[in-house]
Amino acid sequence: MNISSLLFLASLSTPLAAAEASDSKKDFNILHHLGGNSPWFPAPSISGLDINTIPSDCKVSKAIYTSRHASRFPDPGAYNEWTTFHQKIQNATFEAHGELSFLKSWKPVVEYPTEQLAQLSIGGWGELFNFGATLRRRYLAFWTPESNKTVFANNYPRTISSAQLFLHGYLGPQASAHGTVAVVTSSNPLSLSNSLAPSDLCPMYHDNSDPWATQWDAIYLPPILERVQKLIKGDLKLQQSEIALGMYLCGFESQITGKKSEWCGVWREQEVRGYEYRQDLRYWYGNGSGAGVSGSMMVEYLGDMVAWLDNGEDEGLKVAFTHDGQINQLASALGVFDGHAALNPRKIMENRTYKSSNITPMRGNVALERMDCTGKAAGKYVRVILNDAVYPVVGCQDGPGKSCELEKYQALVKEKMDKFGSFQERCGLNGTAPVRKSFLVDLDQAFVSLIKP
Ligand SMILES: *[C@@H]1O[C@H](CO)[C@@H](O)[C@H](O)[C@H]1NC(C)=O
Ligand SMILES: *[C@@H]1O[C@H](CO)[C@@H](O)[C@H](O)[C@H]1NC(C)=O
Ligand SMILES: *[C@@H]1O[C@H](CO)[C@@H](O)[C@H](O)[C@H]1NC(C)=O
Ligand SMILES: *[C@@H]1O[C@H](CO)[C@@H](O)[C@H](O)[C@H]1NC(C)=O
Ligand SMILES: *[C@@H]1O[C@H](CO)[C@@H](O)[C@H](O)[C@H]1NC(C)=O
Repeated sequence: MNISSLLFLASLSTPLAAAEASDSKKDFNILHHLGGNSPWFPAPSISGLDINTIPSDCKVSKAIYTSRHASRFPDPGAYNEWTTFHQKIQNATFEAHGELSFLKSWKPVVEYPTEQLAQLSIGGWGELFNFGATLRRRYLAFWTPESNKTVFANNYPRTISSAQLFLHGYLGPQASAHGTVAVVTSSNPLSLSNSLAPSDLCPMYHDNSDPWATQWDAIYLPPILERVQKLIKGDLKLQQSEIALGMYLCGFESQITGKKSEWCGVWREQEVRGYEYRQDLRYWYGNGSGAGVSGSMMVEYLGDMVAWLDNGEDEGLKVAFTHDGQINQLASALGVFDGHAALNPRKIMENRTYKSSNITPMRGNVALERMDCTGKAAGKYVRVILNDAVYPVVGCQDGPGKSCELEKYQALVKEKMDKFGSFQERCGLNGTAPVRKSFLVDLDQAFVSLIKP
């Protein structure tokens, strides 16, 4: 690997270098606008606050992070699209020009499909090691040489690998001696809402975002197709779906190879913003604020996070790994997007704060910090953080650093739980729910198993 690839790889995780790698003149970095297909980057601040600046008179006494797995190889379905597109290109007789001149020589970058599809990529390994090391530094006081660290993972290969690699970053050479991964199964009838993927046991859960996404596709894709098709002379006719695929490839190829994909150079800023908005529509109406019951799946888990922040247990940091849908469900329940106008499927809502690129990129995470403050604002507070950016809670941000008083935040979360009703009811399940003790505080449950990093 040469120096520029290394620099680029570093740019995937550090804000400083990310600016260097951003697209030429302006500071539009395409890799920060690909929704769920963006490699990890720190979200821009919407509050003007820096996570590393703790308000004076306050100290962070507990923090809980729930994260998507890190950057990965494509799933088999997506990879089939890559290989079909590649074959189509190879079968055609054509010349491509300008930004597309690489097209004939393009081939999918997955070297060993059998071993790699659906697994974390090397870029993902880097993101996790950085994540572990960053949290160790951010919360130095939470670790003593006697400490052990248990992190949680949804029972799926790439989320388990994410938890393991995180521990290597957090504990370094002591990962195997002091680290444990608690694997939480979401398909055990005893788990229900008490897992990192409650939608797996909810018959009423449906991702119904297609109509919104399709409506927007018909608006934003045709002009891009028309522009790009002009770069091709010959019998290769592109389709709208291949435009979207080219943007997806920009994200995936860049994090897989550690070099900026040639696909990234094909797209103009406004075109990428259209693609990003498409992702926002998918998440908002699929399992976010615009999805009713399907957007409510992580409300109980949020209740568990908040309850842990206020219990007597003195361990300072908890970390859990799951998938994009759950991160979106959790982010949508936090209160930071309450009252947000519904996304318009015909026009980009420029003023939105709900942006999937800033919420569910690869390794995207939601964190709650408990701050204990003295002096004028003595008391317990919660800071809500999405990908290292502080997001004030709507209607509860008058604490230090726009935080919300812990007690008020608990009430806000309880109100949401009451509004949605019990998991059994809203999922159309019969019978009584098993007695619920959050896996965050009780590992001794039938659907939790422990493994080493
Ligand atoms: C490419 O050509 C081969 C051989 O003619 C054919 O089997 C295949 O279906 C074609 N693939 C695509 C995607 O056009
Ligand atoms: C941490 O784990 C080690 C090895 O399993 C064990 O001997 C030690 O007692 C644990 N420490 C704490 C504080 O639980
Ligand atoms: C949530 O929606 C997104 C976008 O449609 C999708 O990628 C994800 O798989 C969905 N999650 C679940 C649990 O269905
Ligand atoms: C953003 O604009 C939409 C109309 O496009 C409006 O309904 C909404 O209230 C605005 N939101 C904010 C936060 O200004
Ligand atoms: C719940 O019970 C009702 C009435 O007995 C029945 O119609 C329905 O199919 C049951 N639902 C499930 C998910 O078992």
